[in-house]
Amino acid sequence: MKRLLLINGPNLNMLGKREPDKYGHQTLADVVQLVKDTAWEQGYEVETYQSNHEGDLVDQIQMAEGRAAGIILNPAAYTHTSIAIRDAISATTLPVIEIHISNVHNREDFRHHSMLAPVCAGQIVGFGIDGYRLAALGLMKKIEKEGRTANE
Ligand code: DQA
Repeated sequence: MKRLLLINGPNLNMLGKREPDKYGHQTLADVVQLVKDTAWEQGYEVETYQSNHEGDLVDQIQMAEGRAAGIILNPAAYTHTSIAIRDAISATTLPVIEIHISNVHNREDFRHHSMLAPVCAGQIVGFGIDGYRLAALGLMKKIEKEGRTANE
């Protein structure tokens, strides 16, 4: 079965409790279920990972090849700062979709710039947690179009 890797960065383990006016009331478990359900509809499975640590996110991106056909990534605050994550995305042959729950463009100036967007296959912003479903659908379409095989 083809597999997607869902990676969530720092503070996203606090979804549901964290600034619900910006991120809503749903939890990370709800996000995982949404992506799994979306993937299952198309015959894909999902591996999930969350970390508050930059290097752990780099490790997961490095180890994804051979395990997954593509990556859905919410890098959270590291979006705006991380050259290390950008380099890991550049190095992988897998398509990576960057997703943000909130509309980063109508928030503080420092959130307007993504270090990662130029090396990602696409970006989804501002649709709440539904954005994860949109990211999964777009990623699977791309994987099929590019004829990427099972877990490579
Ligand atoms: C976020 C946006 C980031 O700016 C912020 O640091 C987050 C969450 C989002 O999903 O909207 O932690 O990635």
